[in-house]
Amino acid sequence: MISVKDRTFLLDTENTSYLFRIDKYNHPEHIHYGNRVRIEDAEALAYKHFISYGTTVLYDEKDETYCLDHLPMEYGTYGRGDFKTPSIECEIDGSYTLDFLYDSYEIIEGDMKIDGLPSSYGCEKTLVLHLKEAVKPLRLDLFYAVYPKEDVITRRAVLYNDGEEVILHKMMSCCLDLTEKELVSGSLHGAWDKETHLEEREIVPGTLVLSSRTGFSSAKNNPAFFIRRKDTDEDHGKVWGFNLVWTGEHHSSISLDEYGICRVETGINHERFSYPLKKGTSFLTPEAVLSYSDKGLNNLSSHFHHFIREHITRSDWKKKERPVLINSWEGFGFDFNKDGLLKLASSAKKLGMELFVLDDGWFGRRNSDLRGLGDYDPNTRKIPGGIKSLSKEIHDMGMLFGIWVEPEAINTDSALYEAHPEYALVEEGRKPVLGRHELLMDLTRQDVRDYIVENVSKLIDDNHVDYIKWDMNRHHCGISGAYDYEYIGGLYDVLERIFTPRPHVLFESCASGGNRFDLGMLCYSPQIWSSDDTDPIERLDIQKGLSCFYPQSAMGAHVSASPHSQTLRKTPLETRFAVAALGCLGYELDLGRLTPLEKSEIAHQVAYYKENRALFQYGDFYRFPKEEDYECFEVTDGKKAAAVKVRRSVHAAPIFDKLLIKGLDPEKIYSITSRDHNHTIDSFGHLLQHALPVKVNTDGSLIKAVGRIKGLSAAKQEYTASGSALENGILLDNLFLGTGYNEHLRIPLDYGSDMYLIKEK
Ligand code: DGJ
Repeated sequence: MISVKDRTFLLDTENTSYLFRIDKYNHPEHIHYGNRVRIEDAEALAYKHFISYGTTVLYDEKDETYCLDHLPMEYGTYGRGDFKTPSIECEIDGSYTLDFLYDSYEIIEGDMKIDGLPSSYGCEKTLVLHLKEAVKPLRLDLFYAVYPKEDVITRRAVLYNDGEEVILHKMMSCCLDLTEKELVSGSLHGAWDKETHLEEREIVPGTLVLSSRTGFSSAKNNPAFFIRRKDTDEDHGKVWGFNLVWTGEHHSSISLDEYGICRVETGINHERFSYPLKKGTSFLTPEAVLSYSDKGLNNLSSHFHHFIREHITRSDWKKKERPVLINSWEGFGFDFNKDGLLKLASSAKKLGMELFVLDDGWFGRRNSDLRGLGDYDPNTRKIPGGIKSLSKEIHDMGMLFGIWVEPEAINTDSALYEAHPEYALVEEGRKPVLGRHELLMDLTRQDVRDYIVENVSKLIDDNHVDYIKWDMNRHHCGISGAYDYEYIGGLYDVLERIFTPRPHVLFESCASGGNRFDLGMLCYSPQIWSSDDTDPIERLDIQKGLSCFYPQSAMGAHVSASPHSQTLRKTPLETRFAVAALGCLGYELDLGRLTPLEKSEIAHQVAYYKENRALFQYGDFYRFPKEEDYECFEVTDGKKAAAVKVRRSVHAAPIFDKLLIKGLDPEKIYSITSRDHNHTIDSFGHLLQHALPVKVNTDGSLIKAVGRIKGLSAAKQEYTASGSALENGILLDNLFLGTGYNEHLRIPLDYGSDMYLIKEK
């Protein structure tokens, strides 16, 4: 809801209010973003000033009550007394001074259609604030879209130039001046194979910059972040969340000034940004997404999850259950042939999987990552009959067919490069810098975009492709700023032209794993490959960080072979499943190498996941505070729930542990059942001697042979409890202590896990 009274504007969602007013000098003054308030509260909530500080620069010499530096603003500018970080920097004849004053407003029903960049859709109303520069021929529009149910407000800005060409050096999507004390920031950092680890820092005077300069949103620093009160935890307290619908270089800053105003800005990265804005043209920022909760981080995450599912995700796959897939990459790499692929598909089908994905290596000269990118002709020595016949045989098995592409990159050793070297992006006069042996295609060129659109569309249409994995394996280098803005615009154009007319295609984007996990990509691809790291213990941090801002339906998560190729860590198959089940489940290993026992375990996993798929992919997600060495997560639809407890390492003589479940009806009675699975018998080593009726060599070939087909069933746990007892936490059965064995004992194991299903009785 949007209310306006005496130049005061109130944007209400179900549980939050955003309040600002136009002040006596016509500046939009920020007043409040937090819990629900009345429009009449504006005066009480506003910043008070009756006298100037020692070094104040007054906006009007005659008025010492008014200084921009001490006012929370809706959009900061430089040159008239505000020394906080400016939201916009535009150079005209060497001057950077800007002073945008209120002109008028309008309220638009529903979405504001602005061409150029992807954005959220389906909002209730949009407020547009029209501002004019005091003396320069510039106009600024600030947009506020309101999503009441999700407790989200989005913001973006458009600058219009009515005069001669100006140079735009910075333009943020949003600026929010918070007047709260004792704040802590939380942001996602990492790199290839270790994306989205949550880092929290106390906010102290000075500026914290969260940014990317790799051409893309990047694994180094995801664009999403939150600011919470020091005393806020997963389930209590105030927290503000921010994200950007943007795939390029981003910049966010959190600056605490000397008088306690915490200015938060987010937008495209303005380092090296120099954008010539011609007469009569405009510049549009990406959309910033803001949310607030006074019920802690889990609740903030739930706002973002619902918002993404409802207002970002497109295509037929919006809210549709995603198929369990088998991907060829970790199992085969570049080394495969058609027979091997069909065998993999047929084993996957027998285990219940639904989608076969042929990863890298199927085209042109691509037998390693040295060559071939840019080409689309199938390698018929590896795949006689080409993709069409492979796709047909996969479909005939009753599976969907998917394929990998990396259209934004080109190898110099490729037919395309030989024909069109000008398609590659190389800085003139310099030796090219390569990443994973590849160059980027120049997506600012129309002919390059047309080439990609034509080839990927043809690949999909001619070969009955149901799923595309769109990869991107290098950073931009040496070319950024305004060029990056144009490049990303080119990328969006290509994605729009390929995928919007083909909503049936399940599009999973990827960039060396999660190097481009952002809302811009999610406007086109309903899911994103979260990380090349498939070790479930590493994934705990990766997926936990992601879960702060992105729903499970957006996260590709796979079970791979152990020891894991990324860490050499050995992990139980059950844990690999339990962690991957908290996203869009896939398998990525050579199924031909599995023992019969592993195959039967996987068949059970897939069936279990499919039975509860809506819960895993679309349920409300809860993180629990880390307990000793456990990580616990829950998904629930309010009627039933699934919970996962993963142990990082085992300790002798462990103390009791509990299972906590939230979001169910406190009055109702639930049954809690642990997931049936088997431990491999080699986990018990020489202790088997005590359990077996006859003496055998426990390291010998007999036990190894038996272990291929038979495991030791994990303790079956069954409990009954009310929703309120579950909210308190119920005590679980004993863990193995080393003093004996019986079928009730839970076997912990390093990296072991338990999964529970909680259903109404
Ligand atoms: C990087 C991706 O993240 C992997 O999943 C795989 O597709 C490889 N590229 C293929 O080259």
